[in-house]
Amino acid sequence: MRRIAHLSDVHILDARAGTRRARYRFTTKLVSIGQRAVDPHARSRKLARALRAAKEQGADHVVISGDLTEVGADAEFEQFAEVLHDARLPADSVTLVPGNHDAYTNGDGWARAMRGPLAAFAASSAAAPGKVVERGDVVFLPIDTTRFQTIAWSGGVFTKETAAAVERRMTDPAFRDKAMVLVVHHPPFHPVKAMKWIDGLRGGANVLDLLARHPRLQLLHGHLHRIFNHILATSSAVGAAVGLRPKTDASDAPTRLFGAPATCDGPDGEDAAPAPKLRFYDVADGALHALCG
Ligand SMILES: [Fe+2]
Repeated sequence: MRRIAHLSDVHILDARAGTRRARYRFTTKLVSIGQRAVDPHARSRKLARALRAAKEQGADHVVISGDLTEVGADAEFEQFAEVLHDARLPADSVTLVPGNHDAYTNGDGWARAMRGPLAAFAASSAAAPGKVVERGDVVFLPIDTTRFQTIAWSGGVFTKETAAAVERRMTDPAFRDKAMVLVVHHPPFHPVKAMKWIDGLRGGANVLDLLARHPRLQLLHGHLHRIFNHILATSSAVGAAVGLRPKTDASDAPTRLFGAPATCDGPDGEDAAPAPKLRFYDVADGALHALCG
């Protein structure tokens, strides 16, 4: 595989809710407030446009790293699936993981979507921890970090059991020469320390530990609605904690964590500029290299 397109945070709304479903409209307005306009058609168009850009730029694989929907309603998943199907991408070239917004309505919305409208993409999307999606010289490990919670909370969880399942894949000789790519919605850091407890990833240390012990492991995330590039910062002191640092131009260390902007924040309409919100990576020598940003 040569090129990966990375979309995230699509936040699709139910265009058919109309005026009858006051509660749905109230909730979606509440979770969108101050962040994005509540325009179902515009959000679908932004997704369609980003998928079109992925195709035009020759992406061999498309990753969408969570918050596919605004509140995880069945009708939203149906709408998301409709746009995805319309893009006519090969089903095995699309990897989806859920985000916190996809688990706001009920605890099994994601699982139901995987069995229902998104079934065509289930084989290459998040299921049990440790699942692998092999695409030539790249192996994706899509992880569900969500839990059913109210809209007052937006964090995720990466358990020790999940880490152990990933660890087994990392040490599997079958994948020895592959680029290994964790796909998660929540990154194992938060740019706003005070928000970590309600918006961060519980068990993020488990992710850092995996990254520290497996230099081949890279991570794609969403959730923060903007581009991030992080390197792994290691101390020479034995047993010292491992941290993350934003990649700077001066740094030779390879980027290990890549955050995508929110596709729902992209431009609406058909104009050529500005560009839709997504990222591209080229795969070379077992590593992802961001094309820009
Ligand atoms: Fe999120």
